This record gives sequence, structure tokens and C-alpha cells, in this order.
Amino acid sequence: MKALILVGGFGTRLRPLTLTLPKPLVEFANKPMILHQIEALSKAGVKDIVLAVNYRPEVMVNFMKKYEEEFGVTITFSVENEPLGTAGPLALAKDILAKDDDPFFVLNSDVICDFPFDYLAKFHKAHGAEGTIMVTKVEEPSKYGVVVCKPNSSIIDRFVEKPQIFVGNRINAGIYIFNPSMLDRIELRPTSIEKEIFPAMAAEDQLHCLDLEGFWMDVGQPKDYLTGMSLYLTSLAKKSPEKLAKAPYIVGNVLIDPSAKIGEGCKIGPNVVIGPNVVIGDGVRIVRSSILEDVKIRDHSWIRESIIAWHSTIGKWARLEGVSVLGDDVHVMDEVYINGGSILPHKSISSNITEPKIVM
Ligand code: GDD
Ligand code: MG
Repeated sequence: MKALILVGGFGTRLRPLTLTLPKPLVEFANKPMILHQIEALSKAGVKDIVLAVNYRPEVMVNFMKKYEEEFGVTITFSVENEPLGTAGPLALAKDILAKDDDPFFVLNSDVICDFPFDYLAKFHKAHGAEGTIMVTKVEEPSKYGVVVCKPNSSIIDRFVEKPQIFVGNRINAGIYIFNPSMLDRIELRPTSIEKEIFPAMAAEDQLHCLDLEGFWMDVGQPKDYLTGMSLYLTSLAKKSPEKLAKAPYIVGNVLIDPSAKIGEGCKIGPNVVIGPNVVIGDGVRIVRSSILEDVKIRDHSWIRESIIAWHSTIGKWARLEGVSVLGDDVHVMDEVYINGGSILPHKSISSNITEPKIVM
């Protein structure tokens, strides 16, 4: 089988992390986001994966080559000269997607869930229409594409992207399967699949939806990234509890890379991920946060609801909270307090940030 992952977009909502790495390469639970998807696709028997890229393709190319062998897949980069939106990239990759009559998967690169590709393919082949969208229920549907079905049917009646008024709470999870014939609907120009293609397919009863079981999150913004991380850890606790950390200082679900070093008298968790080569001093408290590779956290600091990116250092008795996001190589001095700060790479912070703000 075949799949295309939409990897473009500038990832502006995940700044400052995406100032250093393209969004799909930012680690989520100690693994680049896109690897969660590639791994699941390869398990479902997908052999051909197209990465539709328009932003810093060279970084992606270098990074992905080594995973072709690991996952037994062929990864082709389909590079756009101008951003082609969420549908144009399918037209650009037509040669691969339509090389046989099998249906192909399409994924947004920033969604995380248990990826039930086998279940989706089976359901899709059974109804025979051109496409199937996975849907999930959310409390705040206005940030997403909303799907309204015909009564007692899986056929989609309406698809409304980012509705201003409430039309329903079942939303597009960003995971699709299509027959190659749907490619005839897309021209090679910037096109939104959500605004132009889905409404046209729905008008002809060619689009079905399938409810996604279990957790789902679009992790393309810091607050949602932390929520998605907590949901992912809950799912991991059920499926592979042996992967979670177990020690007297651990509370709830915590994932720690084996190369990380943790000091004496810490309390870590619930919902914490600690990356490779992280060094944590004594008496540190961390709750609901993600600490990426090579970070150093000194004694007695307190970190809650924050993301700390690569190579950063946190001083003694420092306190971070309120969805603070530290970019690559940020240095927080001893005793500094940061609430909701978004700190760009290579900054040193020596005075308190008491209200959410961006530090450039
Ligand atoms: N190749 C390419 N080119 N990819 C693109 C481009 C482009 O020009 N523009 C966006 N993308 C990719 C993004 O990288 C992402 O993986 C995906 O397309 C969706 O773009 P987002 O910017 O993340 O959209 P969104 O989160 O606001 O909304 C989308 O996802 C929701 C689920 O998370 C829509 O598909 C909604 O309908 C959906 O509910
Ligand atoms: Mg998104």
C-alpha cells in the first residue's frame, strides 16, 4: 500500500521549537512526530511513503534516509516550489499514488493517536466510495474541520472547515484513505482539501467517515502538545507499561530515556517525558512537561506544564509554569521565575517573566 504525509506548512504555532527543526522532526514522547506515523504505516503493510514537503526539505531528506531501512519502506520526497496547500501535494505525487489501483492513505503530520490503518482500509474497501475520513469528537470544534453525516449513515453530508458557528462536534482527525480516482478532482495548484475537495466529494456522496477509537490530538501547538503527550502516556500505560519509568520518585505516567541522569530526592510526574542525555539535579520537581535532548536542570527547580528544548539549562531554584516553551539552547539563571514565556533559541533569561510573553 501507499501513503502520503502532508509535511509542509511552517509550523508557526509550535514556535520556538520549529525555529530549529521542521515540525514533523520535533520529538514527541522521545521520537520525532513523523516516526510515530511511519512506524504505524509500515506495520499496516505500507511500502511507499511520500513526504509532501515545502519547508527546509534538505533537513528532512538527511534525517529520513536512515529510516527507510529500519522500517522497510521507500520514502520519496515530493518537494513543492510554492506551498500547494493540503490537496495540491496529492496532484504533485500522482505518479506514485496512482501507480496501481490500491487505495492510498493521507495524513496530516501533526496528529497523534493509535493509527488504526488496517481498520480504516477494511472499512473503506467495504463501502466502495472514493474516500474515508477518520473522525473524532472534541469539545472545541471551531479549530478543526467539522463533519456532519447523513442520518444513521457513515456518508458525509457536509464538511465545514473551521466553522464560525456550531455545526457539530465530530471533527476531521487528519487521517484519510482514498481511491486513486479521487486524484482526478485535484489540479496542480495551491488547493485546500478541506475547503475545495471534501465539499465536492460530499456533494456526490463519495465521502464516508469512520469514528476513531481511543485518544487523538493535533499536537501542532504547545498546549495541545502537552495534552497529546499526557494522552499518549495514558495509552502507553495500557499497551506497553514496561516502557514507562518505575522508581520511588516517579508519580503516574513518566517516560525517561535510559541515558538520562536523575539526581537525589526528585519527584517526577505525572505526565512527563525526559529525553536522551538529560541531566537533572537533586530535589527537582517536574509535572506535565516535556524535556528534550541534552537539557540540564539544576537542583531544586520546579517545572510544570512546560516544554524545554534541546541543550537548554535551567538554574537552581528556578520555577517554570503556564505552558512556557524554551527554544534550543536557552539558559535560565538561578532563581528565575517564568510563567507562560515563549523563549526564542540562544537566549539567556536572568529576570522574571510573570505574564505570558514572547522573548526574542
Ligand atoms: N506539503 C504541504 N504543503 N503540507 C501542508 C501545506 C502545504 O502547503 N500546508 C499545510 N500542510 C500540512 C501541515 O504540515 C499539516 O500536516 C497538515 O497539512 C494540516 O495543516 P495544519 O496547518 O496543521 O492544519 P490545521 O491543524 O489547522 O487543520 C487541519 O487539521 C485538523 C486536524 O488536526 C485540517 O485538516 C482540519 O480539517 C483538521 O480537523
Ligand atoms: Mg494541525
